[in-house]
Amino acid sequence: MAATFPTMEPIILEARRRLTQGAWDYLVGGTESETTLRQNRAGWDRLAFKPRVLVNVSKVDATTTLLGHRLRIPVILAPVGGLAGMTSRGALAAVEAAMEFGTVPVVSSAAGHELEAVAEVAPDWPGLYQLYIRGDRDWEHEMIERIRAARYSALTITVDTAVGSLRERPMISIGAATPMALARAGQAPPPRYGAMVTWESIDRYREDARMPLLVKGIQTAEDAALAVEHGASVVWVSNHGGRQLDHARGSADALPEIVAAVAGRAEIVVDGGIHRGTDVLKALALGANAVAIGRLQGWGLAAGGKDGLVRVLEILEEEILSAMALLGITAIGELGPQYVCPTIPVTPAHEMSSWPNIPGGRIL
Ligand SMILES: Cc1cc2nc3c(=O)[nH]c(=O)nc-3n(C[C@H](O)[C@H](O)[C@H](O)COP(=O)(O)O)c2cc1C
Repeated sequence: MAATFPTMEPIILEARRRLTQGAWDYLVGGTESETTLRQNRAGWDRLAFKPRVLVNVSKVDATTTLLGHRLRIPVILAPVGGLAGMTSRGALAAVEAAMEFGTVPVVSSAAGHELEAVAEVAPDWPGLYQLYIRGDRDWEHEMIERIRAARYSALTITVDTAVGSLRERPMISIGAATPMALARAGQAPPPRYGAMVTWESIDRYREDARMPLLVKGIQTAEDAALAVEHGASVVWVSNHGGRQLDHARGSADALPEIVAAVAGRAEIVVDGGIHRGTDVLKALALGANAVAIGRLQGWGLAAGGKDGLVRVLEILEEEILSAMALLGITAIGELGPQYVCPTIPVTPAHEMSSWPNIPGGRIL
């Protein structure tokens, strides 16, 4: 079945065919004007390659590691909530796909499954857990104990969601409630625990969890330095795929100053608008250790469940191996800033602009 998808375009078109309007809008959309969403794409498009030739590229190896875990390609699965709306087994299918392909899944605390049930899918796995803070200190401690007991290997704290944001596509198409409307109706849990998370909280989670900590949602050199000072093993450069603050920089634009500030003291993951193998290689050339994918996961799962997501990862691998050979490199460690330079994008950026063969361009 998965082999019937030769490229990413038919996967996206099949996902659109299968998803309800509300599920599609939830997956694809960003905040308000969707400027951050487009900046993510534009940032990668503003980089061109400087390939080297006449290098023996008869053997090319795209494997790498993150936190000591082997990755078949430098791509991990970002935490994505609501996957049950994309495919019946939701996050369970995402973990299965990661295991089958050979990468690391980061399980969202909005996955819609108990964290123990997801961990049971792959007992010897290198799964990471992403926690949203939704309770007091006792709640935090209890969650961290559960994460440890379920043998997750690292804890991700997402720090760009102090409050909810206005994601207008599902508000317009299916009347989805805004965070403010929920709060007015008394349906948002008071007090707003997420809004009270600070660097002191990060220290507490790190000490409590006694496992590597990833701080996800860093957008500046200043915060990257603080994350390292507060013991982060991974600084995760992200604007939540353009789903939180509107009019932020694209992740590619934030990445270089963060790489400089971290100065090798932590590993770096970046996400946002990573659609192609070439995007992965640009991110690594700028200094990231790995990238994460969000919407690509949703499209793969919606189009074909676990097999659809495995196929997404295979297509990325095919693109990465091809581009590495054409760049004149044989191993991921050879990438560096000398392989990229600024350019002027040739295509207006939008959420589908990486795929010129989608009929009509954008899909609503
Ligand atoms: C449908 C959807 C749900 C998401 N849910 C979460 C979540 O539960 N926790 C989290 O930290 N990030 C969440 N994110 C953000 C992703 O982890 C990631 O940062 C983002 O999707 C990367 O951008 P991309 O979709 O362009 O690849 C979500 C993103 C999407 C698209």
